[in-house]
Amino acid sequence: MDRRNSLKLGASIVAGMAIVPGLNASEKMPEGQPMESFWDVVLNRRSVRAFKPDPIPEEDLIKIINAARLAPTSGNQQPWKFLIIRDRKKIDALKTEALKGTEAYLRDTRNLSGDELKKQLEKSEASLANGYLSAPAIIVVLTDNNSRYPTYNHWDGPLAAGYMMLAARAMGYGTVFITDSFPEELTKKVFNIPDQYTRVCISPIGIPVEWPKKEKKDLAEFIVNESF
Ligand SMILES: Cc1cc2nc3c(=O)[nH]c(=O)nc-3n(C[C@H](O)[C@H](O)[C@H](O)COP(=O)(O)O)c2cc1C
Repeated sequence: MDRRNSLKLGASIVAGMAIVPGLNASEKMPEGQPMESFWDVVLNRRSVRAFKPDPIPEEDLIKIINAARLAPTSGNQQPWKFLIIRDRKKIDALKTEALKGTEAYLRDTRNLSGDELKKQLEKSEASLANGYLSAPAIIVVLTDNNSRYPTYNHWDGPLAAGYMMLAARAMGYGTVFITDSFPEELTKKVFNIPDQYTRVCISPIGIPVEWPKKEKKDLAEFIVNESF
């Protein structure tokens, strides 16, 4: 990310913060704010992979990132950056770059060419456009390799992403913790993210076309009572 953009984003977020109620950790959400109960949020969050085009108000994005930055960290180091992408041109650039990888895979591993290759690529493009990249915004969660305790970043990063996803759910937005579907190198290249940062995940965010249902293992499978 070039420094100018980073400053611009920072400035716009700081400007936005002034108008966001409930931003301080100790402050309650204002009355009338749609806020589901903790248990509604936890029980109903599921990964979302298709979104309505409605834009997300800036203050909602800021509230969600505010929740993320309150996650615990080793030694309180708070090593994150949250890159917000709403520019459709940048989201399209991610699609173009991802499709280059798909094409290489289809050619070199699946040995496709000609019409068959074209057909598969069109399918992949539609699937990205109607799926992950139908979201009006993307948040890239990053950790700073120059943080105070960089060896702990791999715990601190996903914790913040988890908070972010739950906060988004509480506000009616869907997210998905993406890793390999958009590999780190690809994401960093397209969004011009400096080497200093490690990508934790990239998450599209938006109003879900529907809330998916996903079976989970039984609770009893997880509990070890006193000893194995
Ligand atoms: C470490 C990690 C990596 C993931 N990578 C991807 C990914 O690359 N693409 C994707 O669509 N979902 C990815 N997911 C989302 C999982 O597929 C999803 O969380 C899981 O299937 C459980 O579904 P739920 O989130 O709806 O409960 C990832 C999740 C985690 C925690």
